[in-house]
Formats: sequence, structure tokens, C-alpha cells
Amino acid sequence: MPLWYGGDYNPEQWPDDVQAEDVDLMRRAGVTMVTVGVFAWSWLEPAPGRYTFGGLDRALDRLAAGGVAVALATPTASPPPWFGLAHPEALPVTPDGVRLSHGSRDTYCVSAPAYRDAARRIAAALASRYAGHPALALWHVHNEYGTTCHCDLTAGAFRSWLRARYGDLDTLNDVWTTAFWGQRYTDWAQIRPPRATQYLPNPTQVLDFRRFTSDELLAAYAEQRDLLRAATPEVPVTTNYVLGGWVPVDHARWSREVDLVAIDHYPSDAGPAAEEETAFAADLARGWATHGTGTPDWLLMETAPNLIYTPGRMHTKEPGRMSRHSLAAVARGSRGAMYFQWRAPRGGAELFHSALVPHAGPDSRVFREAVTLGGQLTRIAEAVDGRVQAPVAIGYDEPSGWALQAPALPATGLDPWTEAQRAHRALWRRGITADVIGTLDGDLTAYPMLILAVHYLMSDAQAAALRTWVAAGGHLVVTYLSGVADRHGRIRTGGYPGALRDLLGVRVEEFHPVAAGSRVRLSTGDTGDLWSETVHCTGAEALASYAGGVLDGRPAITRHGYGAGVAWYVSTRLDEPGRDALLATVAAAAGVRPACSGLPPGVEAVRRVGADRSWLFLLNHTTTDHEVDADGVELLTGAAVSGRVRVPAGGAAVVRTAA
Ligand code: GLA
Repeated sequence: MPLWYGGDYNPEQWPDDVQAEDVDLMRRAGVTMVTVGVFAWSWLEPAPGRYTFGGLDRALDRLAAGGVAVALATPTASPPPWFGLAHPEALPVTPDGVRLSHGSRDTYCVSAPAYRDAARRIAAALASRYAGHPALALWHVHNEYGTTCHCDLTAGAFRSWLRARYGDLDTLNDVWTTAFWGQRYTDWAQIRPPRATQYLPNPTQVLDFRRFTSDELLAAYAEQRDLLRAATPEVPVTTNYVLGGWVPVDHARWSREVDLVAIDHYPSDAGPAAEEETAFAADLARGWATHGTGTPDWLLMETAPNLIYTPGRMHTKEPGRMSRHSLAAVARGSRGAMYFQWRAPRGGAELFHSALVPHAGPDSRVFREAVTLGGQLTRIAEAVDGRVQAPVAIGYDEPSGWALQAPALPATGLDPWTEAQRAHRALWRRGITADVIGTLDGDLTAYPMLILAVHYLMSDAQAAALRTWVAAGGHLVVTYLSGVADRHGRIRTGGYPGALRDLLGVRVEEFHPVAAGSRVRLSTGDTGDLWSETVHCTGAEALASYAGGVLDGRPAITRHGYGAGVAWYVSTRLDEPGRDALLATVAAAAGVRPACSGLPPGVEAVRRVGADRSWLFLLNHTTTDHEVDADGVELLTGAAVSGRVRVPAGGAAVVRTAA
């Protein structure tokens, strides 16, 4: 099966002669799949119920004739201008009560019946017209679900969701702690979404509204999925996740509802951190997939071929980087390498967004690199048979991140995403592969080592599962501010870290947030920032203690033997050398090994393992050539490899080995 290679394709933006050239260029570049129709609603339904599918028919026929498969999108992320005029109540309302107007995209209220009806109708029309079309390989529902609304229709849906969750108002009042500031509700009708308010909002109301929004968006997705599945049971259905702290989508939960986890990922760093971000997002997608769809396969649905958004400017990717990022995604389990977008638009809001066919046209560095990448992906397609081996899991709990966006916390910058990324980076640099998992509710037995990154919210059941897993031999590393609150964000009293005290063998009496720009010193010579704590060992031993300041001599990092396993606690945000040393110690204790030994700094290594052979991906992010131990066949060049393989500066090697 070929890898999926291509990107978002918008025939609606181009005349026929350009579309004809598009398919020729796709063939030249080895493109195997394009995503069509993402924002094409006003093209396909220019007036309510009047469908004009002729242009899409021609585009899909031409793609099919050119051997290019299609991820056919439902265009419901961008309702046409007529929709908002006909249904003003279906336009979204901000927390300040401002109803937004048409003029951008994602301008709808997902709880508005008129929107849901219109979305189902256009999805059903597409399903019935294109079921059985030879180009159709994948359904791509909507685009980057994440729109929030605070209108009265949303309020009604929120109340229904709360009733279903809590049953009665006493329970809601209890879990929302409405006794604080006299917020007690005596009638469901009094409950609203968290709109602009006088001072700090109720944090559990805000957290529940995020969860509700996630579920409401998921219901909208599932409606479309179900009707698409009914029309074409053999075609998988997905939607492309957008990543970021603002996104009100619980991706771990959604991953149980999609046939294939698909992510859009745009690294935000111009330097080497972009490679680390790429690997992190890939391992997160694989983690969501593994514990969601039940298979580690996922798809990089969008990334930028060239310009990367960085603060204040766009950064032009250096030659070779586009290809390396794509190969890194495939190395980490992606079914392919898809881009936003195929051809750069002539106008519109994102007119300078990069594309495989840039404004300069095919006579350009980027298109030549796209052709090179197409060839590379063809040569390594067999690696799809291999499964990524990840001996470590990093627990990244999205709802904990949402809860920690509340104001009035002991510090700002408390963020599971960043903390998970830091742990991931330390492992990445050592060539150790990790699944970044969005839930602790799945099967952890495959992992000898687990890191919990600021896992602030924790249920009793999750804490119990962790105890069982450690007792059976697991090595658990827990960072500060984990297990402190229950799933409703209520603090577990009696000492932090609440749910994990007995497992970690520690009791934390109080927090000492560290001033911005300051650091605490440890007895090991390492330092921490952001956070520190008064830790009492209640069974654990101190591996490092604070040196100086009010915490002088008190435990900072602890280790607790628990059954056949070990639970480690880190009460500050360790600097890079400290984190690296600790995770190396734990990895050694857990018997965790890198994908290959003797890896030069700046060279990334991942192994996909098949039944009787494996594929070692080596990505050289440095500006000098490197050699790595390997035996087999290097697929990009076709050369036999005996003992050492050369990985060119800025390039890659993919070695098929016997075992
Ligand atoms: C997302 C969207 C695309 C486009 C890009 C810009 O991935 O899905 O439509 O807006 O971001 O980077």
C-alpha cells in the first residue's frame, strides 16, 4: 500500500487549465492523495438546497484518472454567506455577548439546530453522490473542530449535558463548589455558559463547559460520520485535529470515535526545537491512536511545506527540512505525509501560506523538494508494515491543561503540554521512543516506564490503576502538581499530591512557587524553576534535596519502592541536565533502551518493527554528515549497509534490517 502523500487541494480556486496542470504536477511529484472540498460549501451549495456538483465531479474524475486518491471533506467548517443570513441564531456568540458575522471561517454555533441540519444535509448529499467514486479513499469530516459559542442555544445544550452528567442540582452544586461566593443554583434555568463576568469565574463551570463543548462538537462529528459510514461502510472516516491549549476538544476521547487519528501540525520554532516538536506531536498522535482507535496508525494530515509561523514573522524552512519532517512523521507511525496545501492561493486570508506548488510555480526549490520527497516516500512505503516500538509512555492529560488555564493559581505557566514536551525532549535526544498518551484509562502493561507531566486532575480509579501498574513492576516518574485535584478540579485535602501520596511515599505540605527568573538549587548541582514544595518523605527516600533558601535540606526528588516497581517524584521543574540525568537513571532501572546505540547528537532514530524485519529511520538534523551503526539495505539510496550507515547532513537514512 502506498503512503499517502499530498495535501489540501482546492479546485474551486482555479480555472480548468490550472486544474489540468495540477494533476500533471501531482504525478510528477508522486502525490498519491489530496484532500478536496474542505472549505467548498459555497461552491457546492450556492443557495439553500441547490447543489452544483459539476466542478467537484470533474475534479474527482480527473484525479481518479491521474491515479490520485481523494480524502473527500465535508465542508461544514465554513458555512456559506446565505447560511448566516437565513439563520442568524446559528452564528456564534463570544463570552462578551457579541454575535459574530460571516466573513472568515468557522462561523457557526454547533448547538444550533439549523447548523446541524444544514451540515448533515450537505454531508449526506456528498455521501450519496460520491459513494463508489473511484477516487474516494477517506472521508475527512469538517476541519479542525474547535469553535466555541456562548449563545442561548448553547446554554440550553450545556444544561442538558450537565443534567445527564450530574442528575440533580445538589450534585452539581457540590462538584462546582457553589457554596463558595454564594453561587448555589436552585433551578437548572439559572445555569449559563461561562460568559464575561465581574471577577474570577467558577473554575469547574469553565472546565465543564470545555468538556461539554468537546462532547457537543463530537456529537456533530459523529452525526456526519454515521451517515458517511452508512453510505460507504468500506471507507474510513476521520477529522483533522488541531493542537493547542485553546482547543476545546478532548482528543483522547475523540480518538475512540474516529477510524484514523489525523493531526495537523505546524511547529512554531525556527530552530532545532521544530524537530523536537514534530516528534512530540507524532508520538502524541500515535498515543491517542493506540489508546483510542486501538491501532498505532495515524496520519499527518497537514503541515507547512515551507514557511513556519514563528512569533512576529514566518520562517523559511531550510532545504531538506520539509522532507526530514515528513520522514520523521512516517518514522513515528504516520500513514503518510500530507500538507497544507497543494497550490498556494492567489488571494484570501492565508495568501502567503506555503504550498507544495508555491506562487513561483513548479520551477521552484519547494516543488523540486516535493518531487524528491515523493520519490523517497515511494522507496520507503514498505515500512508501513512496521510498528513503532515505544517502551516509555508520557501521560499528557488535556483536561488537566484546561484546569490549569484558570486564573488565581499559585503560578502561571503550569502546563502539562510544556512539561510533557520537556520530558519527551530528554528521551528524544537519547533516541528513546515514547508514546505520549492522553489517558491513563487504557492498558499500560506494554510500558515499563511512565512519566506523568503535571497530571493535575486525577480520579480515584486512575490512581488505583497506577498503583497496580507500579506494584507489578512499572517505573513511574511523577512531576509536581500531579494528582492534586479530583476530576472536577476539587483539591484533595490532607497533603499534596493527593491521589498519589501513598504510591509516591511523600506528603507535600505546601507549595513555594519560584519567582520568574529565579531558580532553586539542588544538592546534585542541578536547578529548578517555576515551582518548589515542602516535601516530607513518608516511605520514599530523598535522591536530591533543596540546597539553600527556605527549603534547604528538604527532599526535592524522591524514590519509593512499591511492590515490584518504583515511583519517583520530582517536586520542582528541573533544568535540562537534571531532567536528562533523572530520566536516564529511571530508563536504565526500567530496562528501557534507545532505538539504536551510539547515536550522534542531533541525529534522530526511530525503529518500526515488522514480523521478520525492521526499519531504522535516521534523521540527521545537523549540518555535518554522521555515521550510525546499522546493517541491511538503505532504502533511500538502495545501497547495502554493512556495519555503518552514512546519514548525510540535513538528510535521512532508512535502513531495512533483518530482525
Ligand atoms: C490549519 C487549517 C488550514 C490552514 C492552516 C494554516 O491546519 O486546517 O485550513 O488554515 O491551518 O496553517
